[in-house]
Amino acid sequence: MRVLSGIQPTGRPHWGNFFGAIQQYIDLQEDNDGFYFIADLHALTTVRDAKQLRQNTLDAALDLLALGLDPEKATLFVQSDIPEVSELTWLLMTGTPMGLLERCHAYKEKKAKGIAADAGLFTYPVLMAADILAYDSEIVPVGEDQIQHIEVCRDLAGSFNHTFGETLVLPKAKTLDHGAKVPGTDGQKMSKSYNNTLPLFGEIKPIRKQIMRITTDSRPMEDPKEPEEDHLFQLFRLFGSESEIKEMAEMYRRGGFGYGHVKNAIADASEAYFSAARDRRTELEANMDYVEETLRRGADRARKVAGEVLARAQKACGLK
Ligand code: ADP
Ligand code: TRP
Repeated sequence: MRVLSGIQPTGRPHWGNFFGAIQQYIDLQEDNDGFYFIADLHALTTVRDAKQLRQNTLDAALDLLALGLDPEKATLFVQSDIPEVSELTWLLMTGTPMGLLERCHAYKEKKAKGIAADAGLFTYPVLMAADILAYDSEIVPVGEDQIQHIEVCRDLAGSFNHTFGETLVLPKAKTLDHGAKVPGTDGQKMSKSYNNTLPLFGEIKPIRKQIMRITTDSRPMEDPKEPEEDHLFQLFRLFGSESEIKEMAEMYRRGGFGYGHVKNAIADASEAYFSAARDRRTELEANMDYVEETLRRGADRARKVAGEVLARAQKACGLK
């Protein structure tokens, strides 16, 4: 199966990004033909500093490789290295109803907040649809917030096929249950926009400090507590083994424990969990030639596929 997903290079990845998105990519590369790309064209709607965007793009490649994306099994590339996608975007754009884009949440939310939106943000879902359709993608692993965009992609592909004949493959979204919503340090959804993230990489000490500062309720030590209702428990569950999680849940239900204990357990377990990736990232940083060569090889492979799909779409609508 052709599996495809993109990740925006807009900042340092956090636990939510890993458990909600990246982990699926890595699992799916085993039995599928995985295409994974760094969405620098999408990031251009928010990152407006050339040096920063370039750096973020390389950082994202380092992150993915360090976390286990294997270029021998999957194809890793940068979105803007495949100009065919931008051309396919135009073909789709000519059949995209304004109303469909007006309902898309990224644009709608910005508009509701009174922030001026540009055409890039407005047409963002069309570029995303082209990303998916350009590679005949069948499965698109994403976080819950992206499901609407996959629906738009299916709508656009369906209407293209209806007008010009069967040309584009309709993809399906895939989400992970426990990855659906990783809580942040304030208990609401972990997100860069809420300033409540815990990073995957970086110095251990400040990360530990951030973990120790996670907000808690004022429950007295001796009171029992329902684990499922507590965001500290939800965070521990990401890292603990099955027996550790069971033990922690029992401790919650018994009561008589302090949140400091849970925070220390989260810090230890997360540190151990990401330690190999951390070492691997340091190694890769010293070997940027390898990283750049990997991206070049990925782009070559991706361009071949996108070229074929674009030619098919051009022919279907009377361009060639
Ligand atoms: P942010 O909200 O920090 O800006 P992005 O929107 O860049 O994160 O998200 C990139 C990917 O990570 C998306 O697929 C998204 O669904 C997933 N993701 C982000 N935050 C979380 C979270 N707290 N829990 C689960 N998945 C998340
Ligand atoms: N919009 C996605 C996000 O913010 C990133 C993305 C761009 C993407 N193109 C894609 C994801 C195609 C899946 C498929 O997370």
